Amino acid sequence: MDHIIVEGGAPLHGSVEVSGAKNAALPILFSTLLAPGNHRFTNVPHLKDVSSTLALLKGFNTESTLENHTAVLECKEPSNFEAHYDLVRKMRASVLCLGPLVARYGFARVSLPGGCAIGARPINLHLDALEKMGATIKIEQGYVEAKCKKLTGSVISFDTVTVTGTENIMMAASLAQGTTVLENAAKEPEIVNLANYLNTMGAKIKGAGNSIVTIDGVNNLRPAQISIIPDRIEAGTLLIAGAITGGEVNVKGFDPVLIKALIQKMHEVGFQIKPLTNNSGVHLSSLKEWVSTDVTTAPFPGFATDLQAQFMALMCVARGTSIISETIFENRFMHVQELQRLGADISPKTRIAVVRGKPQGLTGAPVMATDLRASASLVLAGLAAKGKTKINRIYHLDRGYEELEIKLQSLGAKILRGHS
Ligand code: EPZ
Repeated sequence: MDHIIVEGGAPLHGSVEVSGAKNAALPILFSTLLAPGNHRFTNVPHLKDVSSTLALLKGFNTESTLENHTAVLECKEPSNFEAHYDLVRKMRASVLCLGPLVARYGFARVSLPGGCAIGARPINLHLDALEKMGATIKIEQGYVEAKCKKLTGSVISFDTVTVTGTENIMMAASLAQGTTVLENAAKEPEIVNLANYLNTMGAKIKGAGNSIVTIDGVNNLRPAQISIIPDRIEAGTLLIAGAITGGEVNVKGFDPVLIKALIQKMHEVGFQIKPLTNNSGVHLSSLKEWVSTDVTTAPFPGFATDLQAQFMALMCVARGTSIISETIFENRFMHVQELQRLGADISPKTRIAVVRGKPQGLTGAPVMATDLRASASLVLAGLAAKGKTKINRIYHLDRGYEELEIKLQSLGAKILRGHS
């Protein structure tokens, strides 16, 4: 199992380019189930979750190649419509095959994802919506079976903003009979990337990126191509890496508006962050000491829950106390006990953590990654800690970051991947 060793204390300098967004690539790859033929995607990140998705699609009769950030998928009519537990339990986003399979072939049998480190993460909103569109939903032996000859357009009002729920139903509605209106839809940029791809395939979707999305169902869709948008969560992670080391970095290849909430918080604590020309990234100026501020996560355009753990690392070495409220997931503080091993002073409650900053810094120690963003948080804390930090189980990191240690090395970080 791989691990990463970070030697803290080196301020990062230089420029780094972000990769394509994991959370845009996954739904777009699953959308190919809606249209047999050849699809082509550029700026695809080389990630564990992308290869897991291609492996799952292979089970649905899709052959694919991924070379040099370009994916080519040759989709044929599947003979199997089942997504097995052993794949779904490793990647919850596998649930995104449900909407397309039911819409295109009238049937799908998908393992319930089960909980994960950050919460129970049910899919009731996905299933209620499909049921409202006429699907018969059966749950037995840990699998959900959805059947429907032809989905019917409906008004779907989500109780809770759900990113993959919005994506699943947007894909299903593309081939439904009639019009579907999504209310309280998620507004993440990844949803807009997916909607743009579906429209390129011939779908009729309006309003993606707003809380009301209208989809006029069509009879069929045809394969096409699109570029995956840059990863805003990776961009935020790299920005915090520069900040936490007191460095000066350019994070390039993304529109700063995608992490506006994070940039505002970093301004609040004292950092100077300027957009690069034609909004192709940001420049962070060096700062030796910063103050604390409070953060509450929220759906886009609010402060991203996927950046909460990383920002907590920054607050661990700030001057003052920070109250971090996690409103999206019920258990997204798994990184706290590991940060405490590095000397961080954090008091976690169910959804609120009080962080008493230590400007004098943390001390390196062996720690354990528990989930994707927690592992990123530990890398960032290691960059700021005195001495060496060994992060175990970094397969979590490889799910969502393409060669993060290489990117950080290019900025001068003393970080190495080891195989144990
Ligand atoms: C997506 O997960 C992202 N994953 C997550 O990123 C991200 O943290 C999350 O959205 C929130 O932004 C992908 O896009 C592949 P939700 P998703 O449905 O869609 C509850 C990462 O690190 N809920 O928006 O699974 C749910 O429990 C990952 O890249 C229901 O109750 O999240 C949660 O509390 C982690 N019933 C809230 O809604 C449902 O049917 C938001 O979840 C669906 C969700």
